[in-house]
Amino acid sequence: MRIHALIVAAGSGIRAGGGVPKQYRAVAGQPLLRHAVLRLLNHPAISGVTVVINANCLALYNQAVAGLGLPAPVCGGATRQESVAAGLEALAGDPPEIVLVHDAARAFVPDTVIDAVIAAFADAAVDGACPALPQIDSLRSGEAGRYSGSIDRGNLWRVQTPQAFRYPALLAAHRAAAANEGESAATDDVAIALAAGLCVAITPGDERAFKVTEASDFAKAQGMTAYSSRAASGFDVHRFGPGDHVWLCGIKVAHDAGLIGHSDADAGLHALTDALLGTIAAGDIGDHFPPTDERWRGAASDQFLAHAAYLVRERGGLIDHVDVTLICERPKVGPHRVAMRGRIAAILGLDVSRVSVKATTTEKLGFTGRQEGIAAQAMASVRLPESVS
Ligand code: CTP
Ligand code: MG
Repeated sequence: MRIHALIVAAGSGIRAGGGVPKQYRAVAGQPLLRHAVLRLLNHPAISGVTVVINANCLALYNQAVAGLGLPAPVCGGATRQESVAAGLEALAGDPPEIVLVHDAARAFVPDTVIDAVIAAFADAAVDGACPALPQIDSLRSGEAGRYSGSIDRGNLWRVQTPQAFRYPALLAAHRAAAANEGESAATDDVAIALAAGLCVAITPGDERAFKVTEASDFAKAQGMTAYSSRAASGFDVHRFGPGDHVWLCGIKVAHDAGLIGHSDADAGLHALTDALLGTIAAGDIGDHFPPTDERWRGAASDQFLAHAAYLVRERGGLIDHVDVTLICERPKVGPHRVAMRGRIAAILGLDVSRVSVKATTTEKLGFTGRQEGIAAQAMASVRLPESVS
């Protein structure tokens, strides 16, 4: 069963406000549309995703889905119904068996909702399936500030997306609806399907599949973002050479030797930069700042650390805690520890309580014991949004 997903994202998001259409606004560091695409793209039963957009938003679209390898987007219409119809027509050349039509604005739909609409097709009598939640609040009619009657909520449903259909049936239903002049305002595809006499199953919805609609929904979406924890380590060594100071954890420390390196040789910040890069599997400091590059000669290492933090946050990541251990006999780190923690906290934009700096000697053993150089190791723990890839 080949299943293709169509994400409609051609709306202008008027109710959400905010300058750009809501599907291009960031939640947890990523455009809402990217979250929606990743949800469907990562589902094992879905073979491909096509997005329907407003032609004016092509640049925003390209930015939002960069690197995901999606097919060319389809231009939508003035209403959701027209946008879905355009998407369905675009699939006609290579028709899937099942099409899932999904709102970009329901970016956090869980897999269980997708599983259920797909499972509904085990019943051969079913032409389509739509997730829904029962209506739990009492429903009353009323006007001019007074209630006038009651509505039985027992058979009322709050429908969500993705709505799944046998592709030929939905395409025919949309074509029939389009032929009915003046009827282009269906707010979902169940309406189109029912008008065409199709059989649509009710499957379990989920509050997490809510539609970002009003400005306040962005905070709700942010709160619903699931994070997974990552931790990574870093290690660095620099050799002593001539000089009268060393840079350690961003602090200039007077010493009877200097540290040799292409940059300022701050082993503490280098180890920590590698730890942060490790949390996002983004290579190491040498990949980002090659020692062969003249730009980094004598460079202050705070910019390396700041760049690693930027890369974590660009992915919507939150830095929870960092911990550096400096390994040397001298200089003594203790008197500088407060300044070092403060400096790292400032570079990373963290509260100082999330920054730890420790030091140890190696009991005069090894190269650090012989005072030939300084070693540093670091740990960083971050949280990354689940949908980041
Ligand atoms: N949509 C679409 N084409 C349209 C109108 C809507 O593809 N002409 C899409 C939206 O991008 C959204 C989904 O249909 O993903 C549901 O619509 P809605 O939540 O109403 O979004 P907007 O129409 O963008 O928002 P608003 O109604 O507040 O302007
Ligand atoms: Mg709308």
